Amino acid sequence: MLPNKTNIYAEAEMTAVAVAELIVSMQKEKLSENEPLSLAVSGGSTPNILFSLLAGEYKKRIDWEKIKIFWVDERCVPPTDKESNFGTTNNLLLKNVPIPQSNIFRMQGEQKPEEEALRYSKILADELTKKSGLPEFDLILLGMGDDGHTASIFPNNLALLGDPQTVATVSHPVTGQERITLTGNVICNAKKVVMLVTGHTKSNVLEEILHEEGDFERYPAYYILVKCDAELYLDDEAAERL
Ligand code: 6PG
Repeated sequence: MLPNKTNIYAEAEMTAVAVAELIVSMQKEKLSENEPLSLAVSGGSTPNILFSLLAGEYKKRIDWEKIKIFWVDERCVPPTDKESNFGTTNNLLLKNVPIPQSNIFRMQGEQKPEEEALRYSKILADELTKKSGLPEFDLILLGMGDDGHTASIFPNNLALLGDPQTVATVSHPVTGQERITLTGNVICNAKKVVMLVTGHTKSNVLEEILHEEGDFERYPAYYILVKCDAELYLDDEAAERL
C-alpha cells in the first residue's frame, strides 16, 4: 500500500507555500550541522509558483549561501531555450536571489547527452555525501506528468528506476526529445522525496496510483512513491478523484 503521506491544499499556491516552508525547515536543520542543503528540482510548469515564491516572500527566509541546487532532469537543449528546465528555474528564481554561482549545478543540456550524464554523475559523487554507496540528496522535488512519468523516467522505460547509473540519458517517448535524468536509485536515496502535483489533468493518474487500480503498474510515479516513501503535495484539483 502507498504511504499515506499525502498533503492536500485548496489551491496550487498554498501547496507551493507548504513546500517552501518544508525547504526553510530542512535548511534550518542542516544549518544546525553547519552543512548546506542539497536540493534537486524538477522542470515542467508545476514548480514555477514555488520558484516565484522562493524568489519573493521566501527570499529572506533562506540562506542562499547554504543551499546547493541540482536538477532532477534536463532537456538536451541550450540553457537559453524555452524548453530548458535550468532556464525556467534561472529566470524565476536563481537570477533573483543571492545564490553563489558555485552553488548551482546545472545539467548542461547543450552537451552530448552521454557525456553530460557521465559528467553530472561525477558532480553528484563529488558534491554529495554518500549513503549506501550512492550520492544522498537532502531533498528532491519531483513533478508528475499526466502519463504518470516523473523526472524523465517514462512509462516505456521503467528500467531506469533500478538503473545502476545515477544519471542516464533518455528520449521522450512522444517527441523523441533527448533528456538527461537522475535514475530511481539515486532519487530514492535522498533523505526526503517530495512529489508536487497540481491541476485536474493529473487527477485520473493520481487516482489510479493511490488506489492501485487501472494502469498504475505502468506509471514510474507509482514506483517512486512506493520505493522512495515519497510525500505527495497536492492541490484540490489534482486530488479531486481521491
Ligand atoms: C520535465 C520534468 C517532468 C515534470 C512533469 C510534470 O523536465 O518535464 O522534470 O518530470 O515534472 O512532466 O510537468 P508539469 O509540471 O509541466 O505538469
